[in-house]
Amino acid sequence: MFGTSSAWALSFQLLVVYLVLLSSLESSRAGITSTFVRTQWPSTDIPLDNEVFAVPNGHNAPQQVHITQGDYDGKAVIISWVTTEEPGSGKVQYGKSENRYDLSAEGTITNYTFYHYKSGYIHHCLVDGLEYDTKYYYKIGMGNSARKFWFRTPPKIDPDAAYTFGIIGDLGQTYNSLSTLEHYMQSGGQTVLFLGDLSYADRYTYNDVGIRWDSWGRFAECSAAYQPWIWSAGNHEIEYMPNMGEVSPFKSFLHRYATPYLASNSTNPLWYAIRRASAHIIVLSSYSPFVKYTPQWMWLREELTRVDREKTPWLIVLMHVPIYNSNEAHFMEGESMRAAFESWFVQYKVDFIFAGHVHAYERSYRISNIHYNVSTGDRYPVADKSAPVYLTVGDGGNQEGLAERFRDPQPDYSAFREASYGHSTLELKNRTHAVYHWNRNDDGNKVATDSVLFLNQYWASNLHRRRRLKKNHPRSSVVRVATY
Ligand SMILES: [Fe+2]
Repeated sequence: MFGTSSAWALSFQLLVVYLVLLSSLESSRAGITSTFVRTQWPSTDIPLDNEVFAVPNGHNAPQQVHITQGDYDGKAVIISWVTTEEPGSGKVQYGKSENRYDLSAEGTITNYTFYHYKSGYIHHCLVDGLEYDTKYYYKIGMGNSARKFWFRTPPKIDPDAAYTFGIIGDLGQTYNSLSTLEHYMQSGGQTVLFLGDLSYADRYTYNDVGIRWDSWGRFAECSAAYQPWIWSAGNHEIEYMPNMGEVSPFKSFLHRYATPYLASNSTNPLWYAIRRASAHIIVLSSYSPFVKYTPQWMWLREELTRVDREKTPWLIVLMHVPIYNSNEAHFMEGESMRAAFESWFVQYKVDFIFAGHVHAYERSYRISNIHYNVSTGDRYPVADKSAPVYLTVGDGGNQEGLAERFRDPQPDYSAFREASYGHSTLELKNRTHAVYHWNRNDDGNKVATDSVLFLNQYWASNLHRRRRLKKNHPRSSVVRVATY
């Protein structure tokens, strides 16, 4: 036991040294535009008869199973699925050992129409009162059509709780999407932070819109039934299609993908917050009103005051449209949200802001542009140690293809950028350190392409807090490195 933990500690220290060297090299030079030359599968959707969309066997068998966090602190999940022939049972049976489902919860059933498409019966079931850091087995459906899955709850909220998040955006349902999903599933990620644009069903017309939502639900089940996907909405979820008589924004998404918004005092499922392990995660909606005095603005102002970095040191924000982006695609689209929220992100020392939307990868330096106003003339972003790092991970692999034209020259705020498909992982090690990787799909292999050691913006950037931490936790891995 001692040998194993010593070996782990040594390998972690070596990793830290390697990443610190990498980080100091990174910070001493201008940004990198990767020249990696890739081949790629065509950006076309996988045919509906492919096995990745297979309908499970049995009468009225549950399909499109997915789970998400169901409360503020990680002791509940919402389990969702679809039945097609009849409503069937809304019950989830669950327990802590396989094939012993001694607990149960009853869910709700909804459905909707989209043009002439009629959805299946969409089930959402809140399972709460769970124990932390525990594997649960669950069963849904009836008789021979019942299906079994499992998930693991996170460790209790603790500043040093280690946890690994995966980050995926703009996934779609092409062969590139499948490559991203398969590589993510090999990564050891425990929960997905999803950055919006799920199915790209809105690229279809009439009844095919609903059909491609169903196929995407079956496609993502292999991961989403077994670990929470934390949802944020993108422009492809809006589905404002007046030519088909569909003018209710987010209709398919809101029926199919539940979020625990009430637990964070939000009044809308499109923006909310959760706490998980050592992270406080805030989900924003790029396509809902957010200017001053709107409900989203007022909610965010309150939520930021509830963040307790002594309990959840890592403050992470998800949105669809990137605020700092140097790709020709969607350039400047994040300016309105930057104007509304950037000063708060700096004031509250947000660690990471993840966005999708641009079909490429980009990481920024810590920069801000909060001194700008129409009369100061300070119109360019400057280095700012209190600012978040902005990460664009919109490269899941959907049918629209890659955004391959970056602006030239690379702006000073851009640290690394590459137009390839992939996903990211964020390994929170303790209250001070996190290891981050962007993993390029690389035509079949998961390749860690951009790797950075991040120091926590609250615990590691303040000398007084570092001294207090060292005094109270003499064996903790606080090391002297430049804040990155
Ligand atoms: Fe988008």
